[in-house]
Formats: sequence, C-alpha cells, structure tokens
Amino acid sequence: MKIVLTMGGSVLIQDNDYKKIGEYAEIISEMNTEHKLFVVVGGGKPARDYISMVRGLGASEALCDDVGIDVTRLNARLLITALGDVAYPKVPHNFMEAMEYSESGKLVVMGGTEPAHSTDAVGSILAEFVGADLLINATSVDGLYTKDPHKYDDAVMLKEITASDMMEILSNKDTKAGTYEFFDNTAIEIIKRSKIKTVIVNGNDPENILKAIFKNIGTTILP
Ligand code: UTP
Repeated sequence: MKIVLTMGGSVLIQDNDYKKIGEYAEIISEMNTEHKLFVVVGGGKPARDYISMVRGLGASEALCDDVGIDVTRLNARLLITALGDVAYPKVPHNFMEAMEYSESGKLVVMGGTEPAHSTDAVGSILAEFVGADLLINATSVDGLYTKDPHKYDDAVMLKEITASDMMEILSNKDTKAGTYEFFDNTAIEIIKRSKIKTVIVNGNDPENILKAIFKNIGTTILP
C-alpha cells in the first residue's frame, strides 16, 4: 500500500524525549519495508512557543504561520535523523520536491508547506499527489469525538464519520497560526474530493500507527 502518515507535533515531541522519537522511527522503518510510506510532521509545543513570541513582536498571521512551518521542518529533521539511512536526508519544502526526493527510493519526511493551514492539510494534499491508499493521522486523542474530550466529560468517540459530518462537528473553530484545531477544513475537503481513506489514531502509543493499517482502531473518515 501507499501510505501517508501525518504525525502531530505533540505526539512526536513529548517533553523533548528523543528516545520516544527513536521508537517512532523503529515503527516507521518497519512499516516502510512493506509499504511505500510518506511522513508529515507537525509543530507541537515548540511551534506554538515560537508563534506566540513572533506574534508578540508584532508579526502578521502569515508570518506567524511561516515561523510555525520552520518549526515543523525542524521536527521533520529530528525524525529523519532517527530514521538514519532509511530516510531521504533533506526535508522537501513543497509537494513536487517530496515526489522528486521519493524517486530515490528513500522515505520522505516533510513538515509544512505554505501559510493558512496545518500539517493535516499537508498530509491530505500529499496523499492526493502520490495517490495514497491510506492516510493515517496520528494524534494525541483516541479518535474524533463529538466534543473536545479534554474539556467535556460527555464527549463520545466516533468509530466512523463521513467527511461532511466531520466538517459540521468541527465548524466554528479557530484558524489562527498555531491553533488550527483538530483537522482543519482544507484537510477534510481534500479527503472528501479525492475519497482518501483516512484513519485517526492515538499516536502516543507508537504501535497504534501500525494497527491503523489492519485493525479497526480510532476513527475512520468515510469520504
Ligand atoms: P501544525 O500542523 O502542528 O499545526 O503546524 P496545529 O494543528 O496548530 O498544531 P498541533 O497539531 O496541535 O501540533 C504548526 C503551525 O505551523 C503553521 C500553522 O501556524 C500551524 O498552526 N503551518 C503548518 C502552516 O501555516 N502551514 C503548514 O503547511 C503547516
């Protein structure tokens, strides 16, 4: 299978624990032996910290986004380092570069591309570009909930949801730099228009990323 894996920054960068990045690299290398894999890495807390500082200094939202993108690319370099020879050494800055680097046969790891969306959107656009069979979104919750599970006790996790219903549940969310909440609209639009099978899993346990391929886990978005 051709798989695009999007890893939230808060999943990959946990308390600056580089050993955890090594655990993800092992799982990703294992997956890469059987599947053609592409990985997109998010910004996490370091991105939010930088965005908050640059915003404080008077930056525009676009500049804040751009600084966030730089951090996602630095995070991608961490994973590339942990993957060693398995990964292409450079982080592509756009989709054409990603496809070009992939021609080497090495695993491509990228971060953000341009302002005004999150790396979830990057993952779905990359999935379109490469014709992925599966898009896996590794996040820090078990799947998509009816409400924010960190704030509401009565939030219920959905095993399956259509892209259109998902847009309704996630409407009215914040779209400022550093706060593209759980799945941005661009990502859902792309999943819908290209009918990309997508599974959202809790990536805090690296094994869940593997399970997303063959087990009924997390939330499946039905295009
Ligand atoms: P993330 O993809 O990590 O955004 O990119 P997020 O959803 O806000 O953060 P998580 O998922 O909770 O970790 C970090 C920031 O980088 C900018 C945005 O400002 C985003 O919030 N960014 C990222 C872009 O503007 N374009 C991109 O393609 C990617």
